[in-house]
Amino acid sequence: MIKYGIITGSSRGIGLATAQLLLQDGSTEVIGTSTSGQSDIKAQHFKCLPLELSDGTSINNFVRHIGDRKIDFLINNAAILVEDWHTPEINMQQLRKTFEVNLFGTIALTEALLPQFNTNAHIINITSNWGAFSDPHFDPYQPHYKMSKAALNMYTKLLAKRLEEKNITVSSLDPGWVQSDMGGDNASRPPKAVATEILHLLDTKVETGQFWNEGKVRNW
Ligand SMILES: NC(=O)c1ccc[n+]([C@@H]2O[C@H](COP(=O)([O-])OP(=O)(O)OC[C@H]3O[C@@H](n4cnc5c(N)ncnc54)[C@H](OP(=O)(O)O)[C@@H]3O)[C@@H](O)[C@H]2O)c1
Repeated sequence: MIKYGIITGSSRGIGLATAQLLLQDGSTEVIGTSTSGQSDIKAQHFKCLPLELSDGTSINNFVRHIGDRKIDFLINNAAILVEDWHTPEINMQQLRKTFEVNLFGTIALTEALLPQFNTNAHIINITSNWGAFSDPHFDPYQPHYKMSKAALNMYTKLLAKRLEEKNITVSSLDPGWVQSDMGGDNASRPPKAVATEILHLLDTKVETGQFWNEGKVRNW
């Protein structure tokens, strides 16, 4: 049976690599998203829809497009990092913008899609080491992004508890430092390596409410 799922932010970086890998063997139908609705992926089992996570109307339109289709997975991958990497001060405008996309929009989308999930579905929130309280190299930089990802990690744990009885798995995944527009060219990991980990997580029955990195459970 063909699996059906959604990956947000499939136009670039980790999302693009994950969509490409998911589509490779023809056993998965993927709905991807970009802010424009455009995509370079041309595949039979792929459709790209427009989604702007800071806009409630855009989220509602996206959910309407999905209709009553039953969903096997949702990968909440789309996110922004709008701040200067070396500034520790809080900028309220940037904090609000970051939370609108990385947290509020991501949660609004997930909540709106909840009635559609199949038993055994998997929701993966792509967060970050920069959202982990246990980061051994913790520093005061990127505060807006770090707070948004820490809060999304808590949502993972809360939603996992809520959906435990329905057998729906909810995970956070820390992809490491990845070569993309967000991570830059000097990053250590190619997007395909993360895509492989995401596919492995989707294919494996794992304990719900865990935080994953390179195929292993990591500390929050
Ligand atoms: N790269 C890293 O080193 C790294 C490290 C830790 C965690 N992560 C996380 O990994 C995930 C993917 O990161 P990436 O490096 O692949 O990012 P990326 O290359 O910057 O791609 C971001 C994706 O998100 C979409 N997006 C941006 N703003 C959006 C909005 N307002 N509404 C809806 N979609 C939006 C983009 O669509 P458009 O093309 O239309 O703009 C694009 O598809 C993110 O959650 C990120 O926080 C990345």
